[in-house]
Amino acid sequence: MPEQPPHRELVRRDLAAEAQRIRLGDLVREHASPLFVLDPARVTDQLAEIRRELPGVGIHFATKSLPHPAVIDAVHAFGASFEVASRGEIDLLERRGVPIAGCLHTHPVKTVADITSAYLRGIRTFVVDSPSEIGKFAGLPCGEVGVLVRLSFPNPGAKSDLSSKFGVAPEHAAALVERCLAARLPVRGFTFHVGSQTTSAEPWQRAIAATLQLMRDLESRHGIRFELLDLGGGFPVPYDEPVPSLAELARGIRPALAAVPPHVRVVVEPGRFVSAPAMMLVTRVIGTNDRPDGRWHYLDDGLYGAYSNIPAEDVHALVFAAAELGVQRIGDDAADRVTRRVLTRTRVPVTLAGPTCDSVDVIARGLPLPPLADGDLLVSPMMGAYTWATATGFNGIAPTPVLVLPAPRDA
Ligand SMILES: Cc1ncc(COP(=O)(O)O)c(C=O)c1O
Repeated sequence: MPEQPPHRELVRRDLAAEAQRIRLGDLVREHASPLFVLDPARVTDQLAEIRRELPGVGIHFATKSLPHPAVIDAVHAFGASFEVASRGEIDLLERRGVPIAGCLHTHPVKTVADITSAYLRGIRTFVVDSPSEIGKFAGLPCGEVGVLVRLSFPNPGAKSDLSSKFGVAPEHAAALVERCLAARLPVRGFTFHVGSQTTSAEPWQRAIAATLQLMRDLESRHGIRFELLDLGGGFPVPYDEPVPSLAELARGIRPALAAVPPHVRVVVEPGRFVSAPAMMLVTRVIGTNDRPDGRWHYLDDGLYGAYSNIPAEDVHALVFAAAELGVQRIGDDAADRVTRRVLTRTRVPVTLAGPTCDSVDVIARGLPLPPLADGDLLVSPMMGAYTWATATGFNGIAPTPVLVLPAPRDA
C-alpha cells in the first residue's frame, strides 16, 4: 500500500485547493490582514455529518464556540437548535430570529436575574449541578420550567476536562434530583460533557451507561419519567495531528444509545466540531528579527487575538506560508515568484510571535517554514472554534474582522 503523506501535507493540499477556490489572495488584497475567512457552508456540512452519524439525535449547537451571526443563521437554516449560557447569547439568537423556546440554557451557575430574563424570553430548560441553584427557580411559574442535572465524568485524556469545574458526581446525583423534586422543580433528564477534543468513544460509552442506570433507578424509585439525555459536546477536529473521524466515534457511541428507552430524547451540544472547520485565519509578517535563539517573525495577530485558543486550550492549528498554498503575496512580480518557488522547498525553523508587547505572546517556536519576509502572508485552517469568540482587545488591538463567504449558490 502506498505510504500516506504526513498530516501536515494532507492538510496543505486541501487548504491550497480551498485557497484557490475562494481566491484567497484577492480577498486579502481587498480586505487586508489579519482576516478570518468564514465559510457557512462548512457549518452545514459538519451538521449534516452529525445527523448522518448520529441519526435521531437532536443537535444544539454550542453558541459559545463561534457566536457569529452567519454561523447562527447557518445552524438555524439547517434546522438545528442551540445551547446557550448567557443573556448575550440569547440576545444574539433573538436578533437572528431563532425560536428561543427550543434552546437549552446549560450554564450550571446563574443569577436569579439571568434565569428570569431567560425565562421571559422563552427558555424552559435549564441546568443545575448544586443544591444552591435550585432555590433560584422558586419565583417561576410551577411546572413550566424544568432542569437537567449536570453530571461529572472525569476524562483526563480530553484537551479541556470540563468535569473539574461543573457537574455532580453520579453517586451524589440522586440526592440532588430528590432536592429538585422536593422543591417542585421538575427534572427533565441529565447532561454531561466528556471533555473537549475527546478522541475515543469510550468516555461517552461509560457516561451513557452510568446515566441510563441512574435514570432507571430514579424512575422506579420516584415513579417519574425523564425525557432528555444530553451527551454534550467534545467531538474533536484535527489541528496539528489527525483525530478519529466522527464516523469512527459514532460507531462506538451508537451501540451505547441502543439502551436508551423510547420515552427519552437524546441530544448533543457540539461546538468545536461544527465551528472550527468553518474559519481560516490569514495573518501577515509585520517584523523580523534575528535573535540569539534564531529568527523571529512578528505577525499582525497572536495569542491575545485570533490565536487565543493556544493559551486557553492548548490546541495548535497548523500554520502555512501562503507561498506553500500557491497564494501570492501582494506586489509579487514574476521574478519574485520564481525565487519564491525555489524557496518554498527550503525550511527554516522560526519563532512566530503576536503583535502585542507581552513576551508570552508567542504562537509557535522552532516551526519549520519556507523563508519569510516582512509582508508575507500566513494561513491557519481550523480556526473557527474558541478563537474569535475568546479574543481580547489587549494593547488596543482591534478584533480580527470576519469575512463571510457567500453561499455557493449565490457565488
Ligand atoms: C455545556 C457545554 N456544552 C457544549 C460545549 C461545546 O463543547 P465542544 O466545543 O467541545 O464541542 C461546551 C464547551 O465548553 C459546554 O460547556
